[in-house]
Amino acid sequence: MSTTDLIAEAHATFAQLFEEARVAGEPDPTAMTVATAGLDARPSARTVLLKSHDARGFVFYTHLDGRKGRELQANPHAALLFHWSRVRQGVQVRVEGAVEIVGDAEADAYFASRPRASQLGAWASKQSETLESREAFEQRLAQLEQEFEGREIPRPLRWSGLRVRPEKMEFWYGAEFRLHERWLYECDRAGEWSKRMLFP
Ligand SMILES: Cc1cc2nc3c(=O)[nH]c(=O)nc-3n(C[C@H](O)[C@H](O)[C@H](O)COP(=O)(O)O)c2cc1C
Repeated sequence: MSTTDLIAEAHATFAQLFEEARVAGEPDPTAMTVATAGLDARPSARTVLLKSHDARGFVFYTHLDGRKGRELQANPHAALLFHWSRVRQGVQVRVEGAVEIVGDAEADAYFASRPRASQLGAWASKQSETLESREAFEQRLAQLEQEFEGREIPRPLRWSGLRVRPEKMEFWYGAEFRLHERWLYECDRAGEWSKRMLFP
């Protein structure tokens, strides 16, 4: 199989499993773990929501100055993890790759599609900083509500999408008696994709 066919197959496999997760009634198939590491090489992980997936990669939205945002700007590589227990006999998808900030137009369009309360939340949150009290946050929200009353809320400049461009994609299929199946697609330094099976 050619290198372009292989990466297309990996993305199509993801899209197929994602659809199966939706049909199977996974509580939130878009929920994924994002692992990052700053320059100290210490990993950190948290859940975010997948907002788009196509041949370019996997996009989620966040504050660029929160912990993950800072780590990703210092070291723009991430690992993503999906676990869909209701698909087939359980499926895990791992994605690893370089990270880039999406274009302004793409981020603006997504921000504009969000409910107003979420837009205000993005303005109000100084993600990952110390919050003195819940009331302080409520107050910030109320102030911002007044400030933006009667007008469209623009995207905060430091809130955007991050796209993980896969260099590795692994599909793990659960099976009885631990006969799990693992398929790894990976890209070498020359940009050539290959596919192989791994011991479970
Ligand atoms: C189900 C779920 C979905 C979440 N989705 C997002 C998201 O899309 N973007 C985001 O910034 N944080 C999201 N969060 C919050 C993150 O897990 C995390 O608390 C936050 O982004 C701060 O992480 P950081 O301090 O490592 O930057 C979500 C949390 C949960 C439990």
